[in-house]
Amino acid sequence: NNGKKIIRISHSQSSEHPDHIGLLAFEKYIEDRLGDKYDVQIYPNELLGASVKAIELVQTGAIDFAVASTGNLETFDDIYQIFSMPYLFTSTESYHKVMENTELMKSIYESTKSSGFETVTWLDAGTRNFYATTPINSPDDLKGKKMRVQASPTNVKMMEAFGAAAAPMNFGEVYTAIQQKVIDGAENNEFALTNNKHGEVAKYYTYDQHQMVPDMLIGNVKFLEGLSDEERKIFDEAAEECTRVERESWDEQSVTAKKQAEEMGVTFIYPDINLFKDKVKDLQQEIIDSNKKLKPIYDEIQKVNKEVDG
Ligand code: GCU
Repeated sequence: NNGKKIIRISHSQSSEHPDHIGLLAFEKYIEDRLGDKYDVQIYPNELLGASVKAIELVQTGAIDFAVASTGNLETFDDIYQIFSMPYLFTSTESYHKVMENTELMKSIYESTKSSGFETVTWLDAGTRNFYATTPINSPDDLKGKKMRVQASPTNVKMMEAFGAAAAPMNFGEVYTAIQQKVIDGAENNEFALTNNKHGEVAKYYTYDQHQMVPDMLIGNVKFLEGLSDEERKIFDEAAEECTRVERESWDEQSVTAKKQAEEMGVTFIYPDINLFKDKVKDLQQEIIDSNKKLKPIYDEIQKVNKEVDG
């Protein structure tokens, strides 16, 4: 590779997923400008390690970047608990507005710096909903069910509040776990059905809309701080470009994802969301009471919710 530094990026999605499309733009932006020095390589499908493992690889500098869901970042800094709060954002518009608030995000992005990594940008990952092998029309249908969650204590709590048993596991294990009836279902955006083929084994998807959880592109701090000012500027611009292209691809692919899932035989259910909200109504307050640093961020988000809701 002519003495070029190889930059390794890990993520858990397929190479058709918006995250990957965004990362290709990140790669191109950097290589177009600094291609004599850096060779960016993207590893999809948890090839370099799943969720928490991938974060640890970035932390130690074994790899340079990874895409991490905020649920999985929670054990590295509990500021990331904020995103796991069910029904935190009252609309997609509010969610996007909050994520675009760079000042607010800075405090979150830099929270893990002392442990070796930081967030450089966010990627849209839609709204999370339940899906299972049997229809979930109301929270009653979750009783006695075993549902997969991310490796996140808050998500475990949330799942239990909804009335199901929580089974934390890596994203890449979910398909087989459903197929082998180790779990009854999981919760995620619609892409899990199509891109990750979970719609082959779970035929009911319920729009309870409990979370909007972004994917974070995280980078090793030593690597980022070792860049010259000029290079760092290019990496920052590349990160912005990554988000722009990922979101464009997200919006495009969302239109077809649902149709595709229907063709796979998935039934979409539109429940009374208030029944689900009611189950977790005390959770936001409980989380804030147990983690004081969330309060200012939470208040800011409520302000945006109100502005958007009018
Ligand atoms: C989404 C997200 C992934 C995450 C996954 C999960 O698909 O894009 O980054 O790993 O959810 O539930 O683990």
